[in-house]
Amino acid sequence: MFVTFEGSEGVGKSTQLRLLKEYLEKTGQSAVYIREPGSTDISEQIRGVILDKSNRAMTYQTEALLYAASRAQLVREVIKPALARGELIICDRYLDSSVAYQGYGRELGADFVKGINAYAIDGCMPDVTVFLDLPPKSNWRGDRHADRIEEQPDDFFERVYKGYLAEIALSPSRFVRIKPDFDKNVTSRRIIEALKERGAIK
Ligand code: TYD
Repeated sequence: MFVTFEGSEGVGKSTQLRLLKEYLEKTGQSAVYIREPGSTDISEQIRGVILDKSNRAMTYQTEALLYAASRAQLVREVIKPALARGELIICDRYLDSSVAYQGYGRELGADFVKGINAYAIDGCMPDVTVFLDLPPKSNWRGDRHADRIEEQPDDFFERVYKGYLAEIALSPSRFVRIKPDFDKNVTSRRIIEALKERGAIK
């Protein structure tokens, strides 16, 4: 099973991934934990280039291709071999992030982004995608140390959120849409229940 997590910035995705990992470890279930962009030596180097704030001259097309390149490496080096061994994969962001951020946020268009990624993912689509559904708030940044994407203005993140909703409307059965609760443990239990129902975890 290939499970991905998606959502806008500051929705508590990292916390939820940590709580899911704790649950899986406590219940003796093994999984491969990866994040995008990154999780292979080459993909982490590409991540550095993408997120480096000094790369102001990077075109949106280059950015989209670099995310796809990082993904092409991860799919072949980690995801496909792990799926072939029957392992559970938990991935922090994947293709939907490119569609939402580059397709809608950068306004390159969903079709263009899906086109370049078809080559990168080679048919490897998630079985389940958990979408942490919080509309962007102008105060999410807090005191985070912003990278090149996080520096974008609020309207960028509004387009990203709309992009996610559009993707969910296109493949509703793949998505589990969770509204984060004020209590992170409540949210975590909802995610675990939903993944159990889908047969992704026990
Ligand atoms: P990261 O620090 O991992 O962000 P987060 O904790 O929010 O997941 O940085 C990844 C950034 O890259 C994040 O701002 C989302 C963005 N991104 C894209 O724009 N396109 C993509 O395809 C992916 C995977 C991420």
